[in-house]
Amino acid sequence: MSQPSRGADAGRRDILITSALPYANGPIHIGHLVEYIQTDIFARFQKMRGHNCWYVCADDAHGTPIMLRARAEGITPEALIARVAEEHQADFADFRIGFDHYHSTHSEENRHFATLIYERNRDAGHIVKRTIEQAYDPVEQMFLPDRFIKGECPKCGAADQYGDNCEACGASYSPAELKNPRSAVSGAVPEQRESDHYFFKLGDFEDLLKGWTRGGALQGQVANKLDEWFEAGLQEWDISRDAPYFGFEIPDHPGKFFYVWLDAPIGYLASFKHLCDSPRGQAAGLDFDHYWGADSTAELYHFIGKDIIYFHALFFPAMLHGAGLRTPSAIFAHGFLTVDGQKMSKSRGTFIKARTYLEHLNPEYLRYYFAAKLSAGVDDIDLNLEDFQARVNADLVGKVVNIASRSAGFISKRFEGRLSAELPDPALFEDFVAASASIAQAYDRREFSRAVREIMALADRANQYIDEQAPWVVAKQDGRDAELQGICTQGLNLFRLLIGWLKPILPGTAEAAEQFLQIPPLTWADLEQPLLDHEIARFKPLMTRVDPKQVEAMLEASKEDLVAADAAKTRPHETTTEGHLVKEPVADTIDFETFAKLDLRIARIAEAARVEGADKLLQLTLDLGGETRNVFAGISKAYEPKDLEGRLTVMVANLAPRKMRFGVSEGMVLAAGPGGSELFILSPDSGAEPGMRVK
Ligand code: MSP
Ligand code: ZN
Repeated sequence: MSQPSRGADAGRRDILITSALPYANGPIHIGHLVEYIQTDIFARFQKMRGHNCWYVCADDAHGTPIMLRARAEGITPEALIARVAEEHQADFADFRIGFDHYHSTHSEENRHFATLIYERNRDAGHIVKRTIEQAYDPVEQMFLPDRFIKGECPKCGAADQYGDNCEACGASYSPAELKNPRSAVSGAVPEQRESDHYFFKLGDFEDLLKGWTRGGALQGQVANKLDEWFEAGLQEWDISRDAPYFGFEIPDHPGKFFYVWLDAPIGYLASFKHLCDSPRGQAAGLDFDHYWGADSTAELYHFIGKDIIYFHALFFPAMLHGAGLRTPSAIFAHGFLTVDGQKMSKSRGTFIKARTYLEHLNPEYLRYYFAAKLSAGVDDIDLNLEDFQARVNADLVGKVVNIASRSAGFISKRFEGRLSAELPDPALFEDFVAASASIAQAYDRREFSRAVREIMALADRANQYIDEQAPWVVAKQDGRDAELQGICTQGLNLFRLLIGWLKPILPGTAEAAEQFLQIPPLTWADLEQPLLDHEIARFKPLMTRVDPKQVEAMLEASKEDLVAADAAKTRPHETTTEGHLVKEPVADTIDFETFAKLDLRIARIAEAARVEGADKLLQLTLDLGGETRNVFAGISKAYEPKDLEGRLTVMVANLAPRKMRFGVSEGMVLAAGPGGSELFILSPDSGAEPGMRVK
C-alpha cells in the first residue's frame, strides 16, 4: 500500500473506515462477522493510537429480494427493514462492534447523495440510455432478476436451477437459455419484454481506474484480478431497474429506480454525513468535505468480502470520480469463512447466526479466534471448532488471564490492594515495551495473526517470569514481603501490557481489566509507563474456559433453526437463497403416485412441553389412535404448550425419523406461516379422529 496521506496535525491521522453494508433481509451470521470483527479491530486500534478515526456502516435496505420478502411476510418493506435494522444493531452491539454510526441506505442522506452522484455523472456524459430485453413475469407484472427465474439447466438438465448458474454442474448461462423457465415469484412462464435502461459508461474511467489500481489502493491479488477485468474490457453498467422496485426513483425518469448496487456504496457517504450532522459529529467538528472532497487528505478505507470487489474497485471509485469526489485510499478485501473446512451448512448446524452464537458463547472468544486467523490477504479462513476451543482456552484463559490471577491474590490479601512503588525487573518491562512498535505495525498492516502471535509469545515470557519467581513460595517465607509485592507488581504490569495490546481484539475483557486495575481506558501511549504505587480492585475471573457442551448446544440450536424453518414450510423445498425469501410459488407438479406415498394422519396432541436448552422447540407426544409418536416441532415461539394439549392436528406419519440432541423426532406436524411467532398449525374439522388418514 502507498503511504497514506497524512493530516496536518503532527502524526494524528484523519481516518474514515467502513464495513460492507449487510442486506436488510436476513440475520447476521458468523460469516459476516469475519468482516465486522476485522474492521472493528482495525478501527479500535487506530483510536487507541490517538488518531481521529471514525467507523461507519448501515443496512443495505433496497432491492428486489427485500421487496419480495416483505410481501411474503405481508408487511411493507419499510416495516421489514426497520425490524431487521434493530436485529442487526443488537447483534453488532453484543459482539462489541463499535460503530460510530449505523445508518440505512433507505434514508434522506442517501437519496441526496445517490441523486447528486447520478446527476453529476449524467451531466458529464457518463450515463446512456439503452433498450434491453428482459424476462418479465406477466402475473406479478414485474421484470425478473436472474436469481428469480428457475428452470432446467441447459447443460446437464438438472431441475430447479436459478437463472444464472447451475448448482448441479456449475455451468453459467443466461436466463434465456434455461429450459422450461418459471418465475420464482409466481410460477408463471416468463415473457421477454423490452424496457429502457440507463447505463453507466465504466469505460470512460479506464485510465483513472488503472492509475488508482497501480497507486497501491488494492492488495496484490485484487490488483491482479482487476488487470484481468481491464483486459476483458470494461462493460457499461446497468444502473436502473423498472417498477415495482424498493429503492429510489430516478429523478428524471419516473417509474425507473436506481439499482440497489448504485446506492449501496453511496450509503457509506450517507452514514458519515449523518454522523457529521449529529451532536457528536458537530462537537468533534467533523467536516464531510474534508473526508470526501476531491482533494481530501483524510484516509478512507473500505473493508469488504472478496465477492464484492467488482463493485468497490471499479464502479464505486469511477462514480465518485465522475461526480467530482475523491477515490478511496484503499479497499481491503478478505476471504470467506468456512466451518470445519466446509462451507457453512444448515444441516450440519454450521450456518450459525450471530444471535445463536451469543446465546451460547462469549463474543470475545470468536473475536480472538478470528484475529488469530486473519491476515492482510484474501484467503478464506476456517473456523475449526476443536481448534477454537483449544486456542481460546490455552491462550486467553491459560496464558493471559492466568498471569493476573496468579499475581492479584497476594496484592489484595497481603498489601491491601497496593502495587509496589518500583518494578523489581525494569529491564523485563522495557523488553516488553520495546515489542509494542512491532505489534502496532502488525495491526496497522492488518496482520492480526502476527500481532496475536507476538503477544502470545510475550504472554509465555510473563508466565515464565512468574514460574521462576514462584511468589507462592516467597509468600510462605518470613521477611520477604517487599519481594513478594514486587513480583506480583511486575506480573500485573506485564499483564497490563498484554491486555492493552489485546484491547482492539478483546474490548470487553480489556474493560473488565481496566476496572480491576482501576485505571482509565488504556491508550497505546499509556503502555510505555508502568503502573506503580497504585491501588487495584479485587480480582474477579476475567474469562472462563470454553465449555465443549456450549459449542455442542450452539450447533444443535443452529440445526433447530432449520427445523423451525421447516415447520414454516408447506412445500418440500425452500425458495430461499442465502437470506432471500421469496413468496413461495406453487411447487412443481408431482404425479399421484408420489402424492400417495405421503402418509398424513390426524393426531391428538396428548402432551406438549418445552425442551430444556432449546428455545424454539416443543416436544409433542402425538396420539395416532393407539400408537404414540414423539415429535419435536419448531413452534415454541407461536404456542404455549398447555394450549396445545388435547388438540387435534395433522402430521406426516411416514417421515424418516430424525435424530436430534434431545431425542429422536418421529414425524412432523403441519403448520403454515413465515415462522417465529407466526406459525399456525393445521386442525381438522370436528368429527375427525386420531389415526384417520388424510386423503
Ligand atoms: N449488501 C451487500 C454489500 C453492500 S456494500 C456497499 C452485501 N451484503 S451481505 O450481507 O451479503 O454481505 C455483507 C458482507 O459480509 C460482505 O462484505 C460479504 O463479503 C461478507 N460476507 C458474507 N458472508 C460471508 C462469509 N461467509 N464469510 C466472510 N464474509 C462474508 O454483500
Ligand atoms: Zn447443470
